[in-house]
Amino acid sequence: MARIIAGVASSHVPAIGAAIDNKQTEEPYWKRVFAGFERSKEWMAEAKPDVAIIVYNDHASAFSVEVVPTFALGCAAEFPPADEGWGPRPVPVVQGHPELASHIAQSVILDEFDLTICNKMEVDHGLTVPMNLLFGSPKQWPCPVIPLAVNVVLYPPPTANRCFMLGKAIRKAVQSYPEDLRVVIFGTGGMSHQISGPRAGLINSKFDKAFLDNLSKDPKKLTRISHLEFMREAGAEGIEMVMWLIMRGALDDKVEETYRFYTVPASNTAVGHIILEPKTRSAGKSKRPAAKVKRAAARMKSDIRRSK
Ligand code: DHB
Ligand code: FE
Repeated sequence: MARIIAGVASSHVPAIGAAIDNKQTEEPYWKRVFAGFERSKEWMAEAKPDVAIIVYNDHASAFSVEVVPTFALGCAAEFPPADEGWGPRPVPVVQGHPELASHIAQSVILDEFDLTICNKMEVDHGLTVPMNLLFGSPKQWPCPVIPLAVNVVLYPPPTANRCFMLGKAIRKAVQSYPEDLRVVIFGTGGMSHQISGPRAGLINSKFDKAFLDNLSKDPKKLTRISHLEFMREAGAEGIEMVMWLIMRGALDDKVEETYRFYTVPASNTAVGHIILEPKTRSAGKSKRPAAKVKRAAARMKSDIRRSK
């Protein structure tokens, strides 16, 4: 049986991708940002998921504003990087997992979530930047990916609660897949940021930190945040955080916070990152021993205490 071994959330700022592509990661401004993901990359290298489901949003790259699906699942065998205006990012083509993706589509749609099925799709920084942050910049990505694109660019986006419920449906879908796959789910985007208008540059660290706290402890509380509250408190683009709730809905009710990182700013954005694991993780059957991952997690726990 497939199962979800962890949830990861990360901001997806395009300038982070540009810093990687232009070899600026050692510059002091960027070093501060990338340093926060060093331990996460170690954790990911040890966790070695078989598949990653990456919940992200397209920024009018694959979908023009003419057609904007609310939830679009990538069922293709591969997803090339999109041209976002400066040419496609020089990252490997993302390999898909059409079998698991079709199974998720069937299970979730029969559970009455009306996904759009994408058999051809390009992926933008919303997906590839978090992949770089967690997987580094290898010649080939280490595992297949199922992209789930969520509309947070054109009003009305889905509600926080709807996203959380979709996460639960995805969990059920994964757990009913017969092959013994270890799956990591990503929620991307956020945290507080506003790119244009009189409030451009808005950051609300208090809101972001409470969101991170509640993501592990009281996600139900986060499902009651309205669009207006996201907009008022976290800026116009802060709504991207609803995607983190799809990830959270796909995890157990009780989770352990393995790692957290928060820094301001990167470009216009507050960068937030968290790794959550089920409390039952080491109890479950695993193809790989959990001990190494647990050691990495223990090292990271002391980092959380320092960064809070
Ligand atoms: C920025 C952040 C985003 O999430 C995005 O999609 C585009 C730009 C920014 O900080 O500039
Ligand atoms: Fe974005």
